[in-house]
Amino acid sequence: MNPTSGASSVLEVRGVKKIYATLTALGGVDLTVTERSFHGLIGPNGSGKSTLLKSIAGAETPTEGTVGFLGNDITQATPAERSRAGMSLKFQITSILPMLSVYDNVLLAVQAQDSMLALLLSRTREPLHHRIMDMLVQFRLDYRPDELAGALSHGQQQWLEIAMALAREPKLLLLDEPTAGMSPQERRATGKLLAPIRERCSLLIVEHDLDFIRDICDTLTVLDQGLVVDSGPTQIVQNSAKVKEAYFHA
Ligand SMILES: Nc1ncnc2c1ncn2[C@@H]1O[C@H](COP(=O)(O)OP(=O)(O)O)[C@@H](O)[C@H]1O
Ligand SMILES: [Mg+2]
Repeated sequence: MNPTSGASSVLEVRGVKKIYATLTALGGVDLTVTERSFHGLIGPNGSGKSTLLKSIAGAETPTEGTVGFLGNDITQATPAERSRAGMSLKFQITSILPMLSVYDNVLLAVQAQDSMLALLLSRTREPLHHRIMDMLVQFRLDYRPDELAGALSHGQQQWLEIAMALAREPKLLLLDEPTAGMSPQERRATGKLLAPIRERCSLLIVEHDLDFIRDICDTLTVLDQGLVVDSGPTQIVQNSAKVKEAYFHA
């Protein structure tokens, strides 16, 4: 793996293209996520947001371009290698196991990352238990660790999934529309629940709700038809004329 430049950048996407047969989903995207930044990704339906996240996470292989993570070129790395390197994600489709308890879902997420050897060598499960309970406390699920995950409300299931992603102690968290289907109250709560993770992790989040983005994201990138229309500080980008034109078709 070759080191890439940029000391404080966590993620460097360079010239990423993704072509499905005749359809160009991504037309050459550059994106930089810096340390401890909350970076929003918006754009109309079909503009390539999910494809970009999947290309970053390794669920899709770019047709062209490179992905750098923490100074290493990970373009060819598997999703598991990216996860071990400190990338965690929650896609649009839920990945909780509904017939397992809330606690066991987070336990599995943590264990999936640790090697079998590390698990065998660990003398006690105490540190693991604390890590899991910390996550459940942070996402307001600690009062029902034995509840079946399938019995949680939609919003709580989303929080459980975010807790599972964070339990792996990532350096970069990728979230694809985590507030979809949530009530306005759950949406506001989600913003508050995410805020403290800035201490230890960067966030790249796809989100339709511009108020939500405005509340939590310091940086904003706008995609339209597989291309970056604008990127920069949220306040500036959301008011730029070309964003209004492309995104709101104003
Ligand atoms: N696996 C796939 N095969 C073919 N086309 C795809 C596939 N995934 C996405 N696309 C197409 O790529 C474009 C971008 O999709 P997507 O990244 O899901 O957009 P967004 O998340 O911004 O709504 C869309 O036109 C979509 O139909
Ligand atoms: Mg999408």
